[in-house]
Amino acid sequence: MQLKEIIAPIREDLSAFEKEFRALLKSDIFLIDKVVSYLVTHRGKRLRPIMVLLTSRLNGNPPTPVRLSAAAIMELLHTATLVHDDVVDDSYRRRGFPSINSIWKNKISVLIGDYLFSKALRSMLEMRDFKVFDIISRTAERMSQGELLQMERSKDFWMEEEVYYRLVSDKTASLIAASCQLGAVAANASDDDIETMGEFGEKVGIAFQIRDDLLDLLGHEKNTGKPIGNDIRENKITLPLLHALKQAEKREAKHIIRMMKRKPGRKEIEYIVDFVVKNGGVAYATEQAERLTSEALQSLCKYPDSTYKDVLIKLVRFITTREH
Ligand code: IPE
Ligand code: IPE
Ligand code: MG
Ligand code: MG
Repeated sequence: MQLKEIIAPIREDLSAFEKEFRALLKSDIFLIDKVVSYLVTHRGKRLRPIMVLLTSRLNGNPPTPVRLSAAAIMELLHTATLVHDDVVDDSYRRRGFPSINSIWKNKISVLIGDYLFSKALRSMLEMRDFKVFDIISRTAERMSQGELLQMERSKDFWMEEEVYYRLVSDKTASLIAASCQLGAVAANASDDDIETMGEFGEKVGIAFQIRDDLLDLLGHEKNTGKPIGNDIRENKITLPLLHALKQAEKREAKHIIRMMKRKPGRKEIEYIVDFVVKNGGVAYATEQAERLTSEALQSLCKYPDSTYKDVLIKLVRFITTREH
């Protein structure tokens, strides 16, 4: 099922979010305005705001306007980290178009990322809610720690799977978990429900990143809008690779590692992808993403049936099977 079809029931909420998001980014500085309009025009899937909007409808309480600010803050943080991430990963394409760093270079990318982050902070303060401050500041801390842990552990081809999960939870799942928690806060949910949403989002978030790892191996640039094989080129440890290296014969695994360290070209990347598939890395990672997804869905049982719950379930399934 297409994402657009899945989210049809919250179309109005999403356009209200979109308005709020654009309004927040207005600037009288020409350069900022130019880069920001590029970012707004080439938008992504808006998964995090969608999660905020859906989880704010789960308990049946009338949702408060806070949900729109929360959705905008999540997308601001997400965009800021993508702009920085493309500098860190030396990636030239994003959402099917040249990345900010490939048009305006690294210096401007770093500053625009900071600008987006500052806007997130400002809107967070306007919410005047310590629960919200706690969720967002902890998330910002975890995301930067995750990216740094990933740098520290790049080329650590024999890392424990546990380290991989820590890294992915921090760099990616933390923001998805926060989106679900803020949705609950916006619906005046109990502390218990906010905690459930945190656990739900964390699992969905890890499954989401595992799917991203798989798409880096098997996806198509015309769908993902970003370069395929970048994780291999950048010597990033992904779950499929980690598992394949453990399963393979030592000699072959060492050969692959040598190849990766020499900055592989297109042919070598194809060879490495083949190695990962043959040694069960893709099957294993797919299984793990499916396991996490069904665990996540279990925690939705306690909520009453509703259109929004249905949409959320479909969205979670989309996340582990998506092609973009
Ligand atoms: C990409 O996230 C970054 C990861 C955490 C893997 P998305 O796939 O949600 O990015 P956009 O916003 O839709 O481009
Ligand atoms: C997720 O990691 C990025 C952030 C959490 C900022 P990736 O580096 O795998 O994301 P993509 O593949 O560039 O979107
Ligand atoms: Mg990246
Ligand atoms: Mg990736």
